[in-house]
Amino acid sequence: MTSSRKGKLYGIGVGPGDPELLTLKAARLIGKVPVIFTPEAKRGGGSHALKVVERLLDPSQEVVLLHFPMAREKEILEAAWSEAVEKIGEVLQTGRDAAFLTIGDTLLYSTFGYILDGMRKRFHDLVWEIVPGVTSVTAVAAAAGLPLARTSERVLILPATYRPEEVRDALERFETVVLMKVSRVFDHVLPLLKELGLLSGAVLVSRCGTPEERIFRDLDQVDPASIDYLSTLIVTKSQ
Ligand SMILES: C[S@@+](CC[C@H](N)C(=O)[O-])C[C@H]1O[C@@H](n2cnc3c(N)ncnc32)[C@H](O)[C@@H]1O
Repeated sequence: MTSSRKGKLYGIGVGPGDPELLTLKAARLIGKVPVIFTPEAKRGGGSHALKVVERLLDPSQEVVLLHFPMAREKEILEAAWSEAVEKIGEVLQTGRDAAFLTIGDTLLYSTFGYILDGMRKRFHDLVWEIVPGVTSVTAVAAAAGLPLARTSERVLILPATYRPEEVRDALERFETVVLMKVSRVFDHVLPLLKELGLLSGAVLVSRCGTPEERIFRDLDQVDPASIDYLSTLIVTKSQ
């Protein structure tokens, strides 16, 4: 079925995991947008973002899981993004609104950044609105009780996985460094923290805002192999 009125695309940040950290706007829209797209990293593995909002959903709403593999290869990622763009586009063409859920904030290291680009290129008349979410960066700082920055201090947020040499540089230059996606490289980061004398200012928070939340202040006690993907490390010199 096609309609002359195209649906609107909402990009919605659902926060790190605690449903109480959803914004009022996100909760209102999630309860009424007819089609909800939500990412999953492993087919059949479920969607963390969906779990955060499931109590707001009504059986009349359609939920579509979109598979985005945890790959580095550009071709694999681009294929997943363009498949998602087509699926979302098909819904909007029928005149129905759609929401794309994102963990944390909508545009911070989020797949939605690529989806939005793809949608704008593919559908020139796209109508969209983005609802920001509480990012895991600020949620983790709150859980750990660590100020991210005071007065003129500088904060650097970076994914730890891509350029390991930049992690050392960041730790040396910035008062606070937030390392996202740290799980796979923790065994490299830990010796670096020791070498730079930064261990006492480092806190690792896993699954922040969920019933499985863990806060690790003694990183020597952490088994690198057991660290969850949803883990963030804050290292601060300012204590
Ligand atoms: C693809 S990024 C998504 C970031 C998200 N858009 C945000 O604003 O927080 C995934 C990374 O976010 C962090 N993250 C997301 N949710 C988290 C949580 N509940 N607890 C700790 N870290 C989390 C982890 O560093 C994880 O590897």
